[in-house]
Amino acid sequence: MIKRATLLIACLVLPASTLATEMNGIRYADYVGFETKWKLVTTRYRTDNRELRFVYANPIAAKAIEAGAKVYPKGAVFAKIAYLAQPDPAFESSLGPSQTRRIQLMVKDPQKYKEHRGWGYALFTHDGKVNPEPEKDQVNACSACHDLVPERDYVFSQSFNRHTAPAQLFQFDHVEVERSILPAELRGQVPETFSKLLMIKSQLTKSVFQGTLDELKPGLARLAATEKKAVVFLSDDKKKFSLVFPEDLTTDCDDEGAKGISLVSVTSLLDGRVNKAQFCQALAR
Ligand code: HEC
Repeated sequence: MIKRATLLIACLVLPASTLATEMNGIRYADYVGFETKWKLVTTRYRTDNRELRFVYANPIAAKAIEAGAKVYPKGAVFAKIAYLAQPDPAFESSLGPSQTRRIQLMVKDPQKYKEHRGWGYALFTHDGKVNPEPEKDQVNACSACHDLVPERDYVFSQSFNRHTAPAQLFQFDHVEVERSILPAELRGQVPETFSKLLMIKSQLTKSVFQGTLDELKPGLARLAATEKKAVVFLSDDKKKFSLVFPEDLTTDCDDEGAKGISLVSVTSLLDGRVNKAQFCQALAR
């Protein structure tokens, strides 16, 4: 009884911010407020889901990125915050950040994070919670994608003044496969009209989490629209996939004034969460 009373008091006096949430040895509470203290390194915008992203660097990382670092020193930290872009009600054509979607961190510590080439990765929801997927899966997936840029020490961002014209990020290698070789759960999602599909060949299939599937969707959609074929990204353990296919080869649509093709996307982590959506993909002009 006494114990319970003590516990209750402890809970009441602890302000919410000290109830630390932690991922991969990184405490959210240690980084709260970085947006006002650190240097804004770059910004990115994703058109398909209207997501605005801002990348901040702590003083160690900021100094290194400005100098065009090939290797970041211990103690460098990058933080990326993503918002949904929404019109300012006072001036409709001006879209601004609203509704924080998530916060991602990369902390350089070569000893502690040897397994992931010196970077500690962590992902938090807008209110500092961790996502339900196993931590190891998430961290491996972060690293698998950031491994695409070893020449920048696994950091995609470049400072504003060093920015080169952005190249297309994901140039997928792919092979054609028969529908029949796909695992049953995935096969069941592919309309029978597609006896063959394009399957992505990439190091990213090694480790996959929800974020990977989400980030890859625009690339898969571009490929599906230009090739007019079903395109699939399947994890090596065959448990997670992202599939995009033309809804109907004769259906045209309009994507904000540009002629497009109507696509269906299905993503699944095979844990009961199947996400299906229909959308219009503009064809390259
Ligand atoms: C499928 C690829 C992909 C995955 C998976 C991924 N990232 Fe990134 N990350 C990017 C790209 C591309 C950028 C550049 C900014 C942008 O486009 O938003 C980036 C930027 C970042 C940045 C800013 C520093 C930099 O490299 O530019 C941080 C921090 C970050 N990611 C953390 C994470 C964490 C933590 C995870 C896992 C939970 C993760 N990322 C998973 C592709 C990925």
